[in-house]
Amino acid sequence: MTKKWWHDKVAYQIYPKSFYDSNGDGIGDLPGIIDKLDYLQDLGIDIIWLSPCYQSPLADQGYDISDYYRIDPRFGTMEDMERLIAEARRRDMYILMDLVVNHCSDEHEWFRKACEDPDGKYGNFFYLKKKTDGELPTNWRSYFGGPVWEDLPGTDRQYLHVFHKKQPDLNWENPELREEVYRNINWWLDKGLGGFRIDAIINIKKALPLRSYEPDRDDGLCGMHVMLQEAKGIGTFLSELRDRTFRQYDAFTVGEVFNEKAEEIPDFIGDDGYFSSMFDFNETMCGASDKGWYDARPVEPDDYKHRCFESQAKVGNIGFLSNIIENHDEPRGVSRYIPEGDCCTESKKMLAALNFMLRGLPFIYQGQELGMENMPFTSIEEIDDISTRDEYLVALEAGLTPAEALKAVSKYSRDNARTPMQWSDEANAGFTSGTPWLRVNPNYASINAKSQKDDPDSVYAFYKKLIALRKDPAYKETIVYGALKPAWEERHNLMAYYRKGDRTLFVIGNYQREEQEILLPGAYKKVLLNNYKEIAADGSRIRLHGYQVVILEM
Ligand code: NOJ
Repeated sequence: MTKKWWHDKVAYQIYPKSFYDSNGDGIGDLPGIIDKLDYLQDLGIDIIWLSPCYQSPLADQGYDISDYYRIDPRFGTMEDMERLIAEARRRDMYILMDLVVNHCSDEHEWFRKACEDPDGKYGNFFYLKKKTDGELPTNWRSYFGGPVWEDLPGTDRQYLHVFHKKQPDLNWENPELREEVYRNINWWLDKGLGGFRIDAIINIKKALPLRSYEPDRDDGLCGMHVMLQEAKGIGTFLSELRDRTFRQYDAFTVGEVFNEKAEEIPDFIGDDGYFSSMFDFNETMCGASDKGWYDARPVEPDDYKHRCFESQAKVGNIGFLSNIIENHDEPRGVSRYIPEGDCCTESKKMLAALNFMLRGLPFIYQGQELGMENMPFTSIEEIDDISTRDEYLVALEAGLTPAEALKAVSKYSRDNARTPMQWSDEANAGFTSGTPWLRVNPNYASINAKSQKDDPDSVYAFYKKLIALRKDPAYKETIVYGALKPAWEERHNLMAYYRKGDRTLFVIGNYQREEQEILLPGAYKKVLLNNYKEIAADGSRIRLHGYQVVILEM
């Protein structure tokens, strides 16, 4: 395997709207991020992924871009962006922007021109179709609910949007569109970006000719995955994209890739893959139901373990996964993967270590390093996210009462992760001096960066130790490149694995509140990390406390 500059890095995702507000308008901004770069550097972060901050009507919080060459004034200016890139570089950090090119905004100039002249150049930037006998062109269900077709204003056509109706899909079959995309990517890379996180990329290839499939719910529609499974040939687009842009800059790219088949992994993230890395969503998809969030089942500790090991086995040493516990599309990981009632400092640290020591690049989502938890929503009105609002309606339609529907969607709402970052115990968690755009989680008085930074026993301090361990010259080679070998795979509520490189490390987590005894295969040399003060060992026999996690050198 060829070694790359980004292999040993630790990444951090910022959701700009909720990170830090420097001007009191209630919305986080780029100068706010610059203010907090020292905080991130101190934690040990190397790569920062910014969720979109381009000009946007924010119908889907910036994943609906109306100008790829501008920063939305709510987030700052292009000068702020350039300063952020420069200030990050000064600290040996790299900025990734979010590349959202499966769709743009219906307020983008291209779309406006397509409405004016659907048969002209820009009509071909989108998927435009006419209804036949009053029927929509296909019966696909949008990811945010309802059909994927909407009237193209002022015309007799329909346009395709696999996400929200304000996010029209771009037609990648059109070489002129692809040229525009590459021009924009290179323009950004010329500014000194480290690379991109690549949004929803699996959707750029549609199965042609477009057609309907067997409906999977009473609404007569079918989920997008059915069409995507039939769509062949995305590789042609993705290799062209790589060759025309990223490769020329040695940029780091991480793809939002779902449902890939095992045999496709080398194409995606092998030495000569389309992307540097791709996220592992295997855990986030556990328990999901085709019917909707209301029907999802909780993730048990054994599910979590098996899902992680499954992904690790699938990728092996072909390439590098990007490992996450949460992101801006998911609930908080500590509220999801730790059994109800057991969410505490020890269990949060255990989850952190089990995830962080997997082979691949660790991505920390803002606030994860503090152990931020799900939001106790009290009304659907408190929820801004379009996806949650749709799932709420799905739950009501399935017969749940409003209170039951709220409870069900609260568990999975994307707004759990989007509440403002908890900086301190001051008003609005120190996020803004104004009124925050989304309510702050009321637990900010006890969970915040200020109180954790100097507390050696905090979740924050534990993350900092995990990062330092990954960078320790003595262990780095093993942690970055070493193979992962599961241990005691079938043992209930225990997740354990070796990392084998020039050294052998053993990561063991007791994934339950009760104690659990294990017998090591031999003596350990050293305890590298422990979320308890001591280790109850009698030779090779260890009695692990509830949610104790240890990283041993064997
Ligand atoms: C995935 C993004 O992470 C999500 O936030 C967004 O809604 C969709 N893609 C559409 O861009």
